[in-house]
Amino acid sequence: MNVNVTANSPRESVITAVPMAAPLGAEIRGVDLSTPLTAASFAQILGVLHRRGVIFFRGQNLAPEQLAAFSACFGELDVHHMTEHVFPHLPQVRVLSNVKKDGRSIGITKGGMHWHSDLSYKPRPALVTLLYAVECPPQGADTQFADMYAAFDELPDEQRRRLQGLRAVHDRNYRYAALYPERPPLTPEQIAKVPPVEHPLVRIHPATGRPALFVAKDVVSQIVGMSQQESRALIDGLEAFATRPERIYSHKWQAGDVLVWDNRCTLHRATPYAPTHRRTLYRTQVKGEAPLPAVH
Ligand code: SIN
Repeated sequence: MNVNVTANSPRESVITAVPMAAPLGAEIRGVDLSTPLTAASFAQILGVLHRRGVIFFRGQNLAPEQLAAFSACFGELDVHHMTEHVFPHLPQVRVLSNVKKDGRSIGITKGGMHWHSDLSYKPRPALVTLLYAVECPPQGADTQFADMYAAFDELPDEQRRRLQGLRAVHDRNYRYAALYPERPPLTPEQIAKVPPVEHPLVRIHPATGRPALFVAKDVVSQIVGMSQQESRALIDGLEAFATRPERIYSHKWQAGDVLVWDNRCTLHRATPYAPTHRRTLYRTQVKGEAPLPAVH
């Protein structure tokens, strides 16, 4: 249900999309996300997201409620299973921030600095994720995206055929302690809530029909039916291939940016920045479906 979409609007402006010089990413201009969109405008925006995997809007001025309303155009909003640092009246909106108030961080300080697709370790991983920049450093702190359609398309034919029948185990706990040394380890209760899950190694995007690689070396622990050694070589090799510089869009943040990405055809990661700079973003996530295999 698209809750932020109106049938028509007298204030409709011309929407344009400017593709980035990378295989993915586009800037969308001519949209004010603080007001409801017409169904036609939203369809246009969704079309660009499906073509480019990542879209962004500059110069927005949004309250958390307005970010949630725009996000809900894409589907039902998720409440992340880690419930700290959300707005108490609006738990769908999480705060990422290194800013401290009364000695305590106002948000999640360190996001995912490893390549990943959001909630891939759940039976129904995230569909799209949105970030809204409240304040950001002058350098660094880019969010990078890898094009997982291109990663699949550009593999040799024989390897593409072989990968389409494989399944991979995504495990939240697999490298959690190494990835987040500053956080306490997951408790047995937290681990029990997200047991390892099998997904196809190549997934079909339900809207575009295109196959995309679905793998990330710090989350995928094993390929089903392969030895640990064989699995590791394949998983690490595929991530290295997928994240070659020519398949990356690096988003350079400005305050007021709204960035939307499709987790079904991209990987992403956060990059470092000087801790002396302030960075605060609001984040929402839309519930997804079970990944569709390329071979049934
Ligand atoms: C994330 O992985 O969602 C965070 C990205 C970022 O902080 O740049």
